[in-house]
Amino acid sequence: MADKKIIAIVGATGAQGGGLVRAILDDRQGPFVARALTRDVSSDKAKALAAQGVEVVAADVDDQASLERAFAGAHGAFCVTAFWEHFSAEREIAQARAMAAAAKRAGVAHVIWSTLEDTRRWVPLDDDRMPTLQGKYKVPHFDGKGEADRVFAEAGAPTTCLLTSFYWDNLIYFGMGPKPGADGTLEFTLPMGDAKLPGIAADDIGRCALGIFKRGGEFVGKTVGIAGEHLSGAEMAAALTKALGRPVRHNAVPPEVFRSFGFPGADDLGNMFQFNRDFSKEFCAARDLNFSRSLNPALQTFAAWLDRNAKRIPLE
Ligand SMILES: NC(=O)c1ccc[n+]([C@@H]2O[C@H](COP(=O)([O-])OP(=O)(O)OC[C@H]3O[C@@H](n4cnc5c(N)ncnc54)[C@H](OP(=O)(O)O)[C@@H]3O)[C@@H](O)[C@H]2O)c1
Repeated sequence: MADKKIIAIVGATGAQGGGLVRAILDDRQGPFVARALTRDVSSDKAKALAAQGVEVVAADVDDQASLERAFAGAHGAFCVTAFWEHFSAEREIAQARAMAAAAKRAGVAHVIWSTLEDTRRWVPLDDDRMPTLQGKYKVPHFDGKGEADRVFAEAGAPTTCLLTSFYWDNLIYFGMGPKPGADGTLEFTLPMGDAKLPGIAADDIGRCALGIFKRGGEFVGKTVGIAGEHLSGAEMAAALTKALGRPVRHNAVPPEVFRSFGFPGADDLGNMFQFNRDFSKEFCAARDLNFSRSLNPALQTFAAWLDRNAKRIPLE
């Protein structure tokens, strides 16, 4: 244990960071040990990590000094922001700045920054194909992360920018599973026409991140992307039909209809799906499946993920 290198993990009680903790725990012969960062060391999730022998430390990404303490002595840091807790791209960028500065000051050798594209490189603000949101973003939860890529570079933190993908787990936890349509048949709503969406089991993000840390400095200063499979809405509906044992049809509403659904963040997600649809080839190409599998040989396909999780998808 003493000769293992520490990976300090932001979001260790969440999907991405939690996946990395589990990947490190599963890799008992491996070179790393996990240090879990959380705002609340007394939460049930934090206590569950401690019970598995994981070092759990208090840190808040809004508080750089707490991050410096939590990153001290670590070889690596996994950095992620929780956009859906506050819906603010500005705040994500400030949090990224705090993580980057803390990693630099703590002398962390390798940072992985969980990021997404700044869609304004493809759809500038004056392009009215989709509305501008929060005054200066097209897809706020993408653009803030993409803008923050350079924050890590400017801080001089040795960083790999990791482009993640749509979690299939959204079908369980984010209300995106199939729902009965007017005739009672299950409908899977994905406003992307017949374009393909890169998706991934959230747990596989952590396993891929471990693969990146294991490759040493190979990807420092680079952007890499990961996905488990690239699938159209119709292909996802067909896989759901098979896994659930009842028909699921693809409901390909236009993005403008999705934006009008009215739940918090519907406009951001509608723009995201429109971007994913209109730039699907590039978006998929940035997330090569063979590369992802080379980082994580256990990478799941959608069908494999459904085998394990279909029963957990709420259908009402
Ligand atoms: N859903 C998708 O399909 C998808 C795809 C790609 C990217 N993303 C991005 O993934 C990000 C969320 O990651 P996730 O899904 O892994 O998170 P999650 O499961 O929602 O959990 C949030 C994590 O962030 C931690 N956290 C939140 N605020 C914090 C703060 N101020 N200081 C320290 N830790 C804090 C929480 O830790 P404690 O509560 O223990 O402090 C928790 O571990 C979002 O930014 C989203 O845009 C999502």
